[in-house]
Amino acid sequence: MRATFILLLTSLTSAFPQQNWRRIQPDTGSAAYFLENDPAGNNIVSLEIASDGSLSNPTRIPTGGYGSSQVNASGFPNAADTLGSQGSVTVVDDWIFAVNAGSNTVSMFSIAPEDPRHPQLVGKPVGTLGQFPISVDYSPRVQKACVLNGGAVAGVACFSVDPVRGLRADGSLHAIPKTIIMETTPPSGPPGSAAQVLFAPDSSAIFATVKGNAGASPVKLGSLLAWPLNGGQISNSEPVVTQLPGITMDFGFTFIDNKIIFLADPSFGISLLSVKQDLTVTETRHTVIPGQSAICWTAYSPATNLLYAIDAGLNKTGSLVGSIAVSDVDGMIDAQGVFDSAVSDGLMYSLTAANGVSVINLQKQQQVQFLDLSHFGVRKYYMGMAVWPSSTQA
Ligand SMILES: *[C@@H]1O[C@H](CO)[C@@H](O)[C@H](O)[C@H]1NC(C)=O
Ligand SMILES: *[C@@H]1O[C@H](CO)[C@@H](O)[C@H](O)[C@H]1NC(C)=O
Repeated sequence: MRATFILLLTSLTSAFPQQNWRRIQPDTGSAAYFLENDPAGNNIVSLEIASDGSLSNPTRIPTGGYGSSQVNASGFPNAADTLGSQGSVTVVDDWIFAVNAGSNTVSMFSIAPEDPRHPQLVGKPVGTLGQFPISVDYSPRVQKACVLNGGAVAGVACFSVDPVRGLRADGSLHAIPKTIIMETTPPSGPPGSAAQVLFAPDSSAIFATVKGNAGASPVKLGSLLAWPLNGGQISNSEPVVTQLPGITMDFGFTFIDNKIIFLADPSFGISLLSVKQDLTVTETRHTVIPGQSAICWTAYSPATNLLYAIDAGLNKTGSLVGSIAVSDVDGMIDAQGVFDSAVSDGLMYSLTAANGVSVINLQKQQQVQFLDLSHFGVRKYYMGMAVWPSSTQA
């Protein structure tokens, strides 16, 4: 294969508690979703997942909002990863949440188990109390969705979730201090821009990442922010901010349990972080991945009990434990990379630099499909990846 990417396979067997992971039910079918993020009109793109895990039938479902794109240092829209984020489309239980960066709104959909390819919009998209929303998470425990805005008005806004009426703002914007993020709308990035929002698995706090800038002088460190939740309410206090030496580009992250975070940093590789009682964080493992190019996304597969670090820019192997080759079907792309990804039932579904979605069998460490979407849409805007049924942590 002409193009491969690094996947760091870090085995953390002892760290993972046994959880009730939902498995794909072939009788009802399953689906994958990404965000088209088109500035002319945003859609979720649903893909049918067959019982063998393969993808087909891309279908657009309008979000009722508009996409947008981050710009580079000279003000041009970025060529890919237009939101610079992880989690722009999120599936939890039978709900989908999707951000509309161009209209400063978030949309909610319901998934009918008998027809997951055609999710229905619930209510209307609602304003995110800030600008340029890029990432969203939902906690079934507190029945709230929270959105990270990364534009000139940056911060986390939360919403109560009603199965019929949809989303309703719950309190005001939890602004991120200007010392941490100082962006325009649309923001310039990746350096200096926001990345992801996630509830802790026990919903005791909400966390967000903001990239620093390794190229700045002096170097600007990245930030991990946390707000405690009390009785389901996100605290109105200032966020607890952790900046750690050597971590400049806090990007996508995944909770391993309530206290351990797996963080991607495209300036060096991956980091394991330990969350303390006061929500500050210490680094317990700093893994420089030799030759990495842009490790931005993280995933965990219960089927292999491995963590995956996903590189947007690299085509060569050389990770610590292993790597998996990925190519587009024609081998046309040289500097191929892999972008937003979701794992379900031992399979990883990923946006790639090429216009399509790759399916990887994680047990076999092999790509099993490349669904070519070059006749479907414009690659550069695509963002996010999620699957239903989702693997939600208990
Ligand atoms: C990887 O990329 C380099 C530089 O762009 C190129 O020379 C090389 O042929 C590529 N290798 C593969 C296996 O695609
Ligand atoms: C931004 O993108 C434009 C258009 O692709 C390119 O010409 C320019 O060199 C880029 N600027 C930077 C700083 O990367």
